[in-house]
Amino acid sequence: MADRTPLHEEAARGLLDARDRTERLTDLDTAELTAQHSPLMSPLVWDLAHIGQQEDLWLLRGGDSRAQGRLSADVERLYDAFEHPRATRVSLPLLGAPEARRYLGDVRGQVLEGLDATAVTDGRELFAFAMVAQHEQQHVETMTATHQLRVGEPLLGAGAPLPPGRALPPDDAVLVPAGPFTLGVDGADEPWSLDNERPAHTVDVAAFRIGRVPVTNAEWQRFVEAGGYDDPHHWSERGWAHRVEAGLERPLFWSADGSRRRFGIVEEVPPDEPVQHVCFFEAEAYAAWAGARLPTEVEWEKACAWDPEAPDGRGGHGARRRWPWGAAAPTSAHANLGGDALRPAPVGAYPAGASAYGVEQTIGDVWEWTTSDITPWPGFAPMLYADYSAPFFGGDYKVLRGGSWAVGAPSLRPSFRNWDHPVRRQIFSGLRLAWDV
Ligand code: AVJ
Ligand code: FE
Repeated sequence: MADRTPLHEEAARGLLDARDRTERLTDLDTAELTAQHSPLMSPLVWDLAHIGQQEDLWLLRGGDSRAQGRLSADVERLYDAFEHPRATRVSLPLLGAPEARRYLGDVRGQVLEGLDATAVTDGRELFAFAMVAQHEQQHVETMTATHQLRVGEPLLGAGAPLPPGRALPPDDAVLVPAGPFTLGVDGADEPWSLDNERPAHTVDVAAFRIGRVPVTNAEWQRFVEAGGYDDPHHWSERGWAHRVEAGLERPLFWSADGSRRRFGIVEEVPPDEPVQHVCFFEAEAYAAWAGARLPTEVEWEKACAWDPEAPDGRGGHGARRRWPWGAAAPTSAHANLGGDALRPAPVGAYPAGASAYGVEQTIGDVWEWTTSDITPWPGFAPMLYADYSAPFFGGDYKVLRGGSWAVGAPSLRPSFRNWDHPVRRQIFSGLRLAWDV
């Protein structure tokens, strides 16, 4: 056995934390696990075995898909996300829940032995373990979205308590002055960062203003009442075509009577909570109606992570912070993460989570739509899981930043880049406004 280091602890914690959440979301009877709640999502039992299949592939076979895994090649192929689109997975001869659970347990036992036996110098040796933990955490968020789409009696409760918000002036924004900053990260600083976050490089950004907090339900309600969904003038051409075709009138899960359905509970829409379940096209229209725009992902990352006053190590100023608030790992005083709340926190709830520029709630609460397409940073190199990012570059996707309340902290950083089709809104997606200066 190799000496266990803090990096071993961190990788193990990421794996165990993800599994704990997976088990809580799939502790259901067979009918619940095999049901398809929306053509947008897999039955939960698919996610369950896919989590094990990826762990088996990357950690027990070094990514060699021709090597024999614990499943037969035919069964293993059912869990290939590229071969089987989500809408079709319900009709595949999938493993049953007990078989899937046994598979996950067998794989995990061997993986933890392998982790203990891996000697580290700088952490690079443990990257694949952290990558797999992040993969499971991402599926935990996807499974949480599946739970939200499910109609029926609540299965998850109402959610853990959150800190209160605080009143903020309307359109409260901070100025981010013009100047260069370091976009992205390197493995040396962020050993668990994924391929699309790397490498760190300097970019010049024009001055802009950005919302201190995300757009709230109350603000969105005013857009609805002002007829924002009926006026093509606020919408892009493509956005309006989608609005008409999909019949969009309000965020997903809202009703015309001012209530919403949240994990099976019908409740009044809370005014001071960040709006969620809006698509990119709706977010873009809202921003235009509000006399603003969406930020680019580069602007977003600068507002979140750059500290213009910090020493740069060469006698000048300007450096990244590991988290918006500094170096400390996230706690419940900084951000709403980890999924227990089952909802975003009210705006103003996390003054201790403010960035150097003063933006709050960048990390946690809601994913924030940006105007950016998912593209590689200059010098991009694919990681072991080479199809994680590269197949999506240049596709019909918009980047989302920040991470929702459903994200596990071990799989999040200010440099983390999420993406989805601009019409998607079953995800925990909201927005933050930006303005030219
Ligand atoms: C990064 C969230 C877009 O769910 O499609 C999971 C993550 N990739 N398994 C997705 C992912 C492979 C991915 N997103
Ligand atoms: Fe996956």
